[in-house]
Amino acid sequence: MKQVAVFGYGTVGSGVVEVIDRNSAVIEKRVGEKLNVKYILDLRDFPGDPNESKVVHDINVILDDPEVEIVCETMGGNEPAFTYSKNALLKGKSVCTSNKELVANHGPELLKLAKENNCNYLFEASVGGGIPVIRTINEALTAEIIDGITGILNGTTNYILTKMDREGAKFDDVLKQAQDLGYAEKNPEADVEGYDACRKIAILSSLMTGHYVHFEDIYTEGITKITPEDFKYAKALNCTIKLLAMSKENNGSYYAMVAPFLIGKDTALYNVNDVFNAVFVHSNMLDDSMYYGRGAGKLATASAVVGDVIEAAKNTGKNLPIFWDDTKVNLLGIGEVNRSFLVRVKEAECDKKEISAAFGEVTYVTDAGVAGEIGFVTPMMKEKDFEAKLNNLSGVIGRIRLDK
Ligand code: HSE
Repeated sequence: MKQVAVFGYGTVGSGVVEVIDRNSAVIEKRVGEKLNVKYILDLRDFPGDPNESKVVHDINVILDDPEVEIVCETMGGNEPAFTYSKNALLKGKSVCTSNKELVANHGPELLKLAKENNCNYLFEASVGGGIPVIRTINEALTAEIIDGITGILNGTTNYILTKMDREGAKFDDVLKQAQDLGYAEKNPEADVEGYDACRKIAILSSLMTGHYVHFEDIYTEGITKITPEDFKYAKALNCTIKLLAMSKENNGSYYAMVAPFLIGKDTALYNVNDVFNAVFVHSNMLDDSMYYGRGAGKLATASAVVGDVIEAAKNTGKNLPIFWDDTKVNLLGIGEVNRSFLVRVKEAECDKKEISAAFGEVTYVTDAGVAGEIGFVTPMMKEKDFEAKLNNLSGVIGRIRLDK
């Protein structure tokens, strides 16, 4: 019997206990032994819960129990999750986590500790919920040089943008609906400002490069300024708007960013809607591949954690190498990246002469049906050149990047 402890009995933690319980027979066959949740660490008591007797409040009960070989860290946040994870690894206990913030912040250090203590730090559930994208990169695409990853990595924002596209609704109204349905957090800042997607692409970028891409170096723009008018332009251009998280090789360097993009109907990510996530990977031998599924939710995320528990259980006493060291990657500024932009200006303050003088030959969007403004798509240019030109243009309402 493999003994497991769960740190944090919230949504994901209780999901982990449920998955281990409901799928115990098949898990036992796959591991070759039964998995048993021996302890649940939480500050709270859970009177009446079937697992009430397993709840402990003192981490040392778990750390000092040699029978516990694997812990699931489903607490979230940096502390005390970081200290608890370190201490578990120091005791040779594998840690399986859904905590993207901790992985993005301290991944290399925790991976090193796992290696030194012949155990594993596994984090499948930290990106893309139940989509097995981390294991795919670490174990399946190992013959590849990956040079680009583009993902829809946040379910809440994808739900909001999908509703805005389909219903012509306003951001604030859809956010409220998402909160009422329990998709968005009461404090939705991390989702709508792109911080959640930023941490996830930081993790994927680190696995892509084998080094450490720090989330603070990633340019991040959220979706709070996207309006129904933007979607009218998107439709006129046969596009929709998605919050993309991307990391790409560019002439031997890498850049990474999170921002809303106009993407065409002919692109693979166009039909990724509602709370679904998808990760599009480009690599040198396989070319394009895409991974799609539920990027959030109790059982989807818990299933990924338990998948890691099974992996750890099958590899007791053995560290599984993960291609991610602590050498920092110096990212290329996104100002150097070439792309085109949709720009909206007020008709009363700017004319086509001024637009041509600034941007040369542009493509006007004539059928968006938005009165009192001019919308146009620029030629491809470096972001820094675009921003300089835009700063000198009169009556600017907004701009959105095109992913072409
Ligand atoms: N808040 C996240 C999302 C949860 O909406 O995708 C999963 O990481």
